[in-house]
Amino acid sequence: MGKLLVLTLLGAGLALIGERLVALRQRTNASREVRSVEPRSCHLIEGLENGSEDIDILPSGLAFISSGLKYPGMPSFAPNEPGQIFLMDLNEQNPRVQALNISGDFDKASFNPHGISTFIDEDKTVYLYVVNHPHMKSTVEKFKFEEQQHSLVHLKTIKHELLKSLNDIVVLGPEQFYATRDHYFTNFFLVLLEIILDLRWSHVLFYSPREVKVVAKGFSSANGITVSLDKKYFASRMFYLRSLKS
Ligand SMILES: *[C@@H]1O[C@H](CO)[C@@H](O)[C@H](O)[C@H]1NC(C)=O
Ligand SMILES: *[C@@H]1O[C@H](CO)[C@@H](O)[C@H](O)[C@H]1NC(C)=O
Ligand SMILES: *[C@@H]1O[C@H](CO)[C@@H](O)[C@H](O)[C@H]1NC(C)=O
Repeated sequence: MGKLLVLTLLGAGLALIGERLVALRQRTNASREVRSVEPRSCHLIEGLENGSEDIDILPSGLAFISSGLKYPGMPSFAPNEPGQIFLMDLNEQNPRVQALNISGDFDKASFNPHGISTFIDEDKTVYLYVVNHPHMKSTVEKFKFEEQQHSLVHLKTIKHELLKSLNDIVVLGPEQFYATRDHYFTNFFLVLLEIILDLRWSHVLFYSPREVKVVAKGFSSANGITVSLDKKYFASRMFYLRSLKS
């Protein structure tokens, strides 16, 4: 009798997982046929062969690019190389990338950048905020960009108990940003279960030195986030686009 019950539950469990996997394929359009399109004026940027995660472009045309993300279960082309931030000048005819030197009190060996966002203050100083996963944790690193030296000076590591499983960031003001959390669980197998069961538990956070809070929830996996030029609307993407009014 006990065995029969276990087998029944196992069968029901497997059927549920199968059904959720089919739903996931449909939701992400994973089974869609993709037609190959020849890129016209696109060319491979040398120096980024090992992947890139995010890009943010200054009004001057300088672009910051984070190197490919290293995360359990995700393929990495350079699993043993520390992460980097690259600079590219989009005004050049054939833009090339250059890895930025990082100085300051910062552990470069465990640098694993994810989403990035720039902020320019009243003195025209450029700051770069980077979601980092040192040893698979989540922090936000604040850097000052030294344009003459082509380097980043590490100023601060921002940590908070709500800043977990971070994905992307968009900076609004000095040490004020929205960040997305792309999964709720931190254990790898629970993360898989979360995706398969479509638990919409991930969310968007607001951070300022005075207040940290959840501002939008109910996402399967809140991924990229961006802001409109007037800073009135924010959009976060994954499976469906949703705009948040500030
Ligand atoms: C899936 O792909 C089809 C065809 O390209 C498109 O019309 C549809 O909106 C897509 N669905 C989702 C959920 O992205
Ligand atoms: C890519 O990764 C390989 C293996 O770690 C490394 O040898 C190579 O220098 C990397 N290339 C670039 C452009 O970073
Ligand atoms: C980075 O720093 C090293 C050591 O300080 C220096 O030798 C190198 O020239 C710097 N690279 C750039 C691109 O500034």
